[in-house]
Amino acid sequence: MDYRLPNTVVPSRYAIRLEADLERTTFAGEQTVWVTVREPVTEVLLNAVDLEIHGVAAEANDGLTVEGTAHLDGAAERVRLLFASPLAPGEWRLRLRFTGVLNDRLHGFYRSTYTDAAGHSHVIAATQFESTDARRAFPCWDEPALKAVFSVTLVVPDGYAAVSNTQVVSENPVEGGRRAVTFADTIKMSTYLVAFVVGELEATEPVLVGKTPLRVWCVPGKRHLAGFAEEVGAFSLEFFERYYGLPYPGDKLDLLAIPDFAAGAMENLGAITFRETALLVDATAASHAELERVADVVAHEVAHMWFGDLVTMAWWNGIWLNEAFATFMELLAVDAFRPEWNRWVTFGVSRGAAMAVDGLWATRPIEFEVMAARDCEAMFDLLTYEKGASVLRMLEQHLGAEGFRDGVRLYLDRHRFGNAETTDLWKALGDASGEPIPEVMDRWIFHPGYPVVTAEPDGTGVRLSQRRFTYLEGEGADDGRWRIPVLVRAGVKRGIVEKPIMLADEPLTVTLPASPDWVVVNAGGHGFYRVRYAPALLKKLGAALGRIGPIDRFNVASDAFALVQAGSLPAPDYLEFTARFVNETDRNVWAALSGSFAYLNRVIGAADRPGLEALIRLRLATAADRLGWEPEEDEDELTRQLRGDLLRTLGTLGNDPAVQERARERFARHQESGIPVDPNVLPALIAILAASGGEAEYEEFVGRFKSARTPQEEQRYLFALAGFRPPELVQRTLELTVNGQVRSQDAPFLVRALLVGVHSREPAWEFVKVHWETMARQYPGSAYRRLWEGIAALVNPAWERDVREFFASRGITLGGKTLEQYLEQLRVAVRLQEREAGPLTAYLARPRRAAR
Ligand code: BES
Ligand code: ZN
Repeated sequence: MDYRLPNTVVPSRYAIRLEADLERTTFAGEQTVWVTVREPVTEVLLNAVDLEIHGVAAEANDGLTVEGTAHLDGAAERVRLLFASPLAPGEWRLRLRFTGVLNDRLHGFYRSTYTDAAGHSHVIAATQFESTDARRAFPCWDEPALKAVFSVTLVVPDGYAAVSNTQVVSENPVEGGRRAVTFADTIKMSTYLVAFVVGELEATEPVLVGKTPLRVWCVPGKRHLAGFAEEVGAFSLEFFERYYGLPYPGDKLDLLAIPDFAAGAMENLGAITFRETALLVDATAASHAELERVADVVAHEVAHMWFGDLVTMAWWNGIWLNEAFATFMELLAVDAFRPEWNRWVTFGVSRGAAMAVDGLWATRPIEFEVMAARDCEAMFDLLTYEKGASVLRMLEQHLGAEGFRDGVRLYLDRHRFGNAETTDLWKALGDASGEPIPEVMDRWIFHPGYPVVTAEPDGTGVRLSQRRFTYLEGEGADDGRWRIPVLVRAGVKRGIVEKPIMLADEPLTVTLPASPDWVVVNAGGHGFYRVRYAPALLKKLGAALGRIGPIDRFNVASDAFALVQAGSLPAPDYLEFTARFVNETDRNVWAALSGSFAYLNRVIGAADRPGLEALIRLRLATAADRLGWEPEEDEDELTRQLRGDLLRTLGTLGNDPAVQERARERFARHQESGIPVDPNVLPALIAILAASGGEAEYEEFVGRFKSARTPQEEQRYLFALAGFRPPELVQRTLELTVNGQVRSQDAPFLVRALLVGVHSREPAWEFVKVHWETMARQYPGSAYRRLWEGIAALVNPAWERDVREFFASRGITLGGKTLEQYLEQLRVAVRLQEREAGPLTAYLARPRRAAR
């Protein structure tokens, strides 16, 4: 099968006129495509799927017209235009008429719906084209390298807004109470970046950022939730113009909240679309995490306007560069927007998540061959985004921020309006910095996995060596070496010493002036590798946690638990070691610790659970007592968020009856008498009430989910439903995932949450086995795939066999290596259970002082 279109006929410009019928949920279009014919052809091949094509003609400059016919190949997602006589080399205009259906699958040109305050239902027509769904809206050369100019006209009912990539240049009445809205020509860009949105939407007043008007769009009644996104949007636009040294490539920037949206957001040039939670927020009522999410997503998509939209990958194997870079820039921008958020420290959690996948044998290199374009859907994963961004950060630290930025500028300037490959970025970075880039980078990008660096005392210094980190044993863990920029930091008598080195093929010893009190390898935490400290070094480090940075403490905890999962550190030793962290103040470090407790909770049996709960309460007590339930006047946002995080863990995973009781009281007082609760604590109360609640709370939460006033509030109550423990309530939540009461953009994540919960996983698995075909039909493809991540929580040998048997007998494939990864993650957990169940039972049975 040939996956690429032939280059005998290539487009340069599309003039598209589209009309969506929101009542009938259909659309009709006509388009003229300016093409260059490079050799005589009677046949033109381009992409189209789920369209009907009615009229085909080719027109030459001299007025000659050749009639044609269209022949669709549904499986190949292509249409063959056959002409009665050959089209001679030169310039032609192809004219096509077509119709289609506004689908419910959240891709192509699709239908989104919402209900207004009076209970009336309304339809919005919106698009999502990446990776390969522009072909569902209009016939096109749907490959990223076939850039063209788009001139769009949307015919819409009066009173409806029409938005596309550029500014409106004219509006003309059309009979039947409609009008034709024509947009300015776009820059030369890829098909996957085209967008159309039609609906009764409202916009904020435009704010001018330099010359660019910026607006936020939403369904009526939500404009008051747009302020924060507008602020981040304006900030990022300015930030990136300065960083990239190139003006914004569009003529306006619209940020649109679409009620049904498969991904988080999409970087359509000038018309960025979002799911509501990623754009609309009440900044006075949101938790830190909810605000950070909006800032992240907005900054990420605005970063793409240059990196991705102005300069685009030549083919989908380059998607990592697009997404990794946007993620890297997102972090830079958010770090500049709110320095006090310590965004790079928080990123440690995401880096750790990527390492959890990349330590599997079923991982893949960041840059990976993509044959059929549809295979690239599986590329939008933690390896592309988080590992990709991590290695870029590592490179930036290695080259220095300015050298790196200069290389990026050079790259964008060289390739603007065009396409580029990874090697082009390396070349630009090399030219700008004078450093050889591929030598350092290629191993990180083109090979799977990452190293674990072993640190052992050697005289007064430390000896460092590397091998590949894997959770399960296997062949080849010692093949090949990374070039690792390592920063060693040590506490010595006279203060602190730092030694940057490049660890490559051979082990080496870093000499230190005097026998150090403690040594941190990967200081600052930028390196994408784990560290395995010899017992003596780990012991010293455990005693010195107060003297090292939060990211270093995070890595100490996270690397130690990874070694437990890999079988080289006994789980009880790890749990004992966590006692070193009782005075911890950083929320990311707590996220690592709490994450490891939650993981072990899925591994142990029900009889050991009270022992683990007691241990969790003991570990968290000091920090939680220090923070209490109420924020201090001048407390920073991270501390407030930490309070919420700790209370949540105590009340759910720790099953702390006192915390649960108090949460119930506070929630009731808040609801009944309006006594304020800190926005970081309120989501925790909701989760705790679910974990300890019954039918009354369940009914209340369903009601609050349906009548929520902000997208965040809606999500809190919806996902809390997965936390209820009584079996009949678990069953009700399971039903919600397929009965149409939860949007298909959210339902798959609810299923995943149910699969992961220790009280719901068994019925959830039985339910999924019965309903998976319904889910596959209802859910957007990308989210459906993510749902299966939940199988990794089905930790026991019998479930594991059942899971494997299920997939084998149904022939389900999830694209790329996704399924293999989930199955291996399950294997890692079951192995841990087989190895450690006994020792964990013994350890958890030890009496522990009740924490409170
Ligand atoms: N280009 C993606 C959106 C996308 C993802 C389209 C997968 C098609 C398939 C967009 O730039 C993106 O990365 N969105 C993220 C949010 C971001 C902050 C990481 C998302 O949707 O989760
Ligand atoms: Zn992106």
